[in-house]
Amino acid sequence: MADWQIYTGTAEPHRAAIPAAPPWRTFGDPKAGHQMELPAPESESETAATFQATGEMVDAVNAALVLRRPLLLTGRPGSGKSSLIDSVARELELGRVLRWHVTSASTLTDALYRYDAIGRLQAHGLRREQSDGRVVDAPEIEDYLRLGPLGTALLPSLRPRALLIDEIDKSDIDLPNDLLNVFERGEFDVPELARMGTGPVDVRVDGGDESYPIENGRVRCTEFPFVVLTSNGERDFPAAFLRRCIRLRMPDPTVTLLTDIMIAHLGAVAAAESDALIKDFATRAKADRAYATDQLMNAVFMVTGDGTPPGEEERARMVELLLKKLATDVV
Ligand SMILES: Nc1ncnc2c1ncn2[C@@H]1O[C@H](COP(=O)(O)OP(=O)(O)O)[C@@H](O)[C@H]1O
Ligand SMILES: [Mg+2]
Repeated sequence: MADWQIYTGTAEPHRAAIPAAPPWRTFGDPKAGHQMELPAPESESETAATFQATGEMVDAVNAALVLRRPLLLTGRPGSGKSSLIDSVARELELGRVLRWHVTSASTLTDALYRYDAIGRLQAHGLRREQSDGRVVDAPEIEDYLRLGPLGTALLPSLRPRALLIDEIDKSDIDLPNDLLNVFERGEFDVPELARMGTGPVDVRVDGGDESYPIENGRVRCTEFPFVVLTSNGERDFPAAFLRRCIRLRMPDPTVTLLTDIMIAHLGAVAAAESDALIKDFATRAKADRAYATDQLMNAVFMVTGDGTPPGEEERARMVELLLKKLATDVV
């Protein structure tokens, strides 16, 4: 096995060493400062434990991990784009996955850090009112600052953090280029802290109570995070952005892959009972990309199980209800 074959898609959790980065993708010195511990996952996630990775997914993940490049996943809805990262984080013990769900209003700064300047000003005003004219200091800045998911992913740590940037196709046109810049440099500044010019300030991280001492307003990673970007649409991204990502179009579901997915989520008995349904779904999905794997999971769940099996007609009605085309039925 080549030493870059770290993620296998099947193994139980293991802390395999990630091979050294190419010289053009090394960042801060890991010995220079405080290293963030990887926070434990919230709980054992069903998605992480049941994910079925194909050979091409495994290769793309390993290339992204070793080359320290973001992985851009495209493909039909329900093809597992948002779930793959959970499987990687579980197997390689990368801790809690950081998530950034992109909308048309998302900006790069939101993902790096949020500073509640107005809240701080109001609190300062309140203190002044209550101080009978004495001079009072502004409240500590760290109570009004919090790193976002991307900002947290770039904190120094000995193993890469896992970061999902979900549905980047929904973003404003400039976001991919803005992101590219941060990915190239592996660092960013918090100007509000840099201006203060004092010692380290403990800033809270995304989605947790931990904090990290930021010095001179600058954050620089020591290990480039494992970043997965997903895109549903066929949107054209800038060439410079595409060139710097590892790209994978998620495979269209075959009967074998769908059967494996049903076995993983619902068990071998349910999968065997739904053999005809799985084949029917694969045929529909092949002809038309407007079907998602989770629709099949819902249908199999409804028509199998321990209770009294549904009659032929009830079963057919339920299947038709659940396997509607997404493109025409979802507005
Ligand atoms: N390869 C797979 N193995 C196991 N489950 C899968 C796989 N692909 C999709 N699924 C399941 O299908 C559902 C939809 O997957 P998701 O990652 O949300 O798709 P996407 O982000 O591409 O729309 C999830 O419940 C996921 O667990
Ligand atoms: Mg998704």
